[in-house]
Amino acid sequence: MPLVRLPDFKQISSFIRHFFISSAGGHGVHSPFAYRLCEEVFYNNNFFYEFEHLETRRAELQKNNTTLNVEDLGAGSKLLPNTTRKVSSIAKNGISNKVQSQILFRLINYFDYKTTIELGTSLGLNTLYLARANKNGKVFSLEGSKNLIAFASEQARKINTHNIEFIAGNFDQRLPELLNTIQTFDLAYVDGNHHREATLRYFHYLLEKVNEQSCIVFDDIHWSHEMSIAWEEIKQHPSVRLSIDTYSSGYVFFRSELKEKQHLHFWL
Ligand SMILES: C[S@@+](CC[C@H](N)C(=O)[O-])C[C@H]1O[C@@H](n2cnc3c(N)ncnc32)[C@H](O)[C@@H]1O
Repeated sequence: MPLVRLPDFKQISSFIRHFFISSAGGHGVHSPFAYRLCEEVFYNNNFFYEFEHLETRRAELQKNNTTLNVEDLGAGSKLLPNTTRKVSSIAKNGISNKVQSQILFRLINYFDYKTTIELGTSLGLNTLYLARANKNGKVFSLEGSKNLIAFASEQARKINTHNIEFIAGNFDQRLPELLNTIQTFDLAYVDGNHHREATLRYFHYLLEKVNEQSCIVFDDIHWSHEMSIAWEEIKQHPSVRLSIDTYSSGYVFFRSELKEKQHLHFWL
């Protein structure tokens, strides 16, 4: 979720650093796997009918004046500090943008990922991207606000999307409970509670159930200094073989075929 707010000095310097070391278009990408990711996922412009359909829904949400009482159990939003929020404001300022959602869609589609976990449902538009990328797969989407869960479930029902299980409650409790019921997962999108300690805790819970193909995506990795620190710690973890920093999000892969640990920056 991109959050617009005045950046502090540490964020500006991390952005400038990112700008200079990014390899736009995949130049400097070494392993065949990273090269494929570049070509097939990050810099692929193939059109999917679903994109048009889901972006029409985004435009509708951005005009929706319904108000919702939202209890945020995480770090909250700088732009949306009140608990009473208009759907239009959340759709403009509090959810993943088109580029982020479409990369997640392409990842699921390209690798035929079956089991996806989303931490932070919000309005559920990104959840629809995850679910519709593989209609034979299943998405578990966790959210602390009951009103958001109700809103997102209704959105999914309206467009006949039934491969989502919405789970209401605090990630701290619901994530370990969910992980106890599944063997493994393919993709996890961590997009809520942007505190260093919580982000690392969710990473360690998720690590217990990764497989060779899994990818974990962290949103807002440079949202604050403590999130940049959390991202550095995640990248350095011995099980992470490849990390990709797009500035707004960080992607980690665990494939043992990747003998040499690699950290890449992509400019999207
Ligand atoms: C940035 S929004 C999610 C956006 C959504 N993933 C998307 O891409 O559009 C983060 C959501 O996480 C929820 N959240 C934050 N911390 C939480 C926690 N500890 N437990 C449950 N939900 C939490 C908030 O209520 C909020 O709706």
